[in-house]
Amino acid sequence: MAGLIPKQFIDDILARTDIVELVDNHVPLKKAGKNYQACCPFHTEKSPSFTVSSDKQFYHCFGCGAHGNAISFVMEYERLDFVDAIEELAGFLNIEVPREEDNLSPQQKQQQFQAQQQKQDDYQLLEKISHFYQQQLKVSPDKETVINYLKNRGLTGEIVKTFGIGYIGDNWDGIMKAFATNNNTTAQLVDLGMAIQGDKNRPYDRFRGRVMFPIRDKRGRVIGFGGRVLNDGTPKYLNSPETRIYHKGQELYGLFEAKQANKNLTRLVVVEGYMDVVALAQHGVNYAVASLGTATTPEQLQTLFRTVKEVICCYDGDRAGREAAWRAMDNALPLIRDGYALKFVFLPDGEDPDSLIREKGPQAFETMLDNAKPLSKFLFEHLLNEVDINSLEGKASLVDKFQPYLKKLPESTLKDAILAELASNFGMASEQQLAKLSKSTHKAAEHKKIKPDNKVTPVRMAIALLLEQPELAKEVPSTNGLAQIDTRGVPLLIELIHLCQAQPQLNTAQILEHYRQSEQGKQLAKLLCWQHFVEKDNAKDVFLDSIDKLFANFIKKRTELLLQKGRSGQITPQEKQELQTLLNSTS
Ligand code: UTP
Ligand code: MN
Repeated sequence: MAGLIPKQFIDDILARTDIVELVDNHVPLKKAGKNYQACCPFHTEKSPSFTVSSDKQFYHCFGCGAHGNAISFVMEYERLDFVDAIEELAGFLNIEVPREEDNLSPQQKQQQFQAQQQKQDDYQLLEKISHFYQQQLKVSPDKETVINYLKNRGLTGEIVKTFGIGYIGDNWDGIMKAFATNNNTTAQLVDLGMAIQGDKNRPYDRFRGRVMFPIRDKRGRVIGFGGRVLNDGTPKYLNSPETRIYHKGQELYGLFEAKQANKNLTRLVVVEGYMDVVALAQHGVNYAVASLGTATTPEQLQTLFRTVKEVICCYDGDRAGREAAWRAMDNALPLIRDGYALKFVFLPDGEDPDSLIREKGPQAFETMLDNAKPLSKFLFEHLLNEVDINSLEGKASLVDKFQPYLKKLPESTLKDAILAELASNFGMASEQQLAKLSKSTHKAAEHKKIKPDNKVTPVRMAIALLLEQPELAKEVPSTNGLAQIDTRGVPLLIELIHLCQAQPQLNTAQILEHYRQSEQGKQLAKLLCWQHFVEKDNAKDVFLDSIDKLFANFIKKRTELLLQKGRSGQITPQEKQELQTLLNSTS
């Protein structure tokens, strides 16, 4: 495991990234006053409410409430997690992401180091085995049979090489003999699923007498294998089990090869089998992946939509295929933002992509992809099938049927279109319900909207100004006085003053980054979104004035409290003295 990314480096990234330039690369911006504007990439709108501030290095949408710094933008826009977003920004700047040691005990560090070594070792071993399998195509006694098999399936030597396809003869110890040189490697072969540990005897080869397909991760490392029998034996395909380096729900067979073959991938086709991926590539459709199991998992869909904006699921036209498609759709719904599309192709009975492209050729196949069924159509077909839309009851239940799916879909033109379609086709009878439906599915989005809570309190004003102009911190030589004020928000103000004094070079975005994921971070972001209309030149005066007001309010409240205590005779001698001081200070 890599260590933590140093805080300093994150500050650096934010200092060197210009958010206006960054956003503009994805969403063309227009200058509007001192800020920049565009239609929000995170929700659907017709007039721009998405604002990027160069001064604050911060974006904010008045419509949906999306906001944040450059890191947040990359995370949201490219759907990356924090670490990946940092990697991406570092990549733009052409710098390496350094890692610092975690606070681990020497023993934990040792373990971590060993696990890391182990993985490197695992990758190396599987790479060697993959080469060995490929070599067998040339040296195995069965080589003619195997080569003929591959030829009969329409594969050229070139494509066999691209996919690293190999072969292993039908022996119990082909791999064991070549690779189990000591107890360690024997255990490793078992751990990686290449050998099976019987009850008593020595472990033996899992894959025997099979055409071998290496499964590579998206960086091209071999992490497992699928092996096909040459004849009608069973099982037809044997696959690596889950291991410490192979988690099949997260991988897509052929993704690495598709990325290698296409500098700019725009769409990916999801098919069922290894041979489908390879046969499609053989015919020039070199952007297919297989999901390595029956259902396409949420993780796989996320990977797909991080790679391209158009995903076409190509399944059997039978019941099982439609069910698989429906599950994939359900898993994909939360990912379908504007600009992204999931489509479906259902194949004729008895055909698979391999057989189709061989029969009809790549053009016919791609035409089929171009005419793939859009998600909305699939959704309507499927759900209309389940109700009798000629009855009022049916129409009414249709709304209930749509609800769970619409809820998962982000605010988008697609969602609006589905709602409009429901309204126009299923008309008057369900209009009320539709309104209800629309309301309930929009609720989540509305919830996110920042409530216009514009009450100007001195603390809010001080924090907002300090965030925008961190150099104001030096106007407060000491926070001792402030520390006595028990007004909400003051501890955060003090913390910010200290932070800005200790690191005077920090800009707004960097300060915000210090509070990522904390409750305070949310408060700060809210204040940054808030428009206070204080001119930059006046900021210092207003800032100091706000702090004065804080004191004045505090003194007033405290004085009142002590006076009241005095009246009821419950005042201590110390408090009496304090009251005296307070009264003197205000007079
Ligand atoms: P299919 O049975 O549709 O086979 O399995 P296929 O891909 O068309 O294979 P060919 O054309 O006969 O060679 C589709 C996928 O299901 C998995 C494999 O990933 C296969 O590619 N599968 C199938 C197995 O894992 N084991 C099996 O025994 C069969
Ligand atoms: Mn097939």
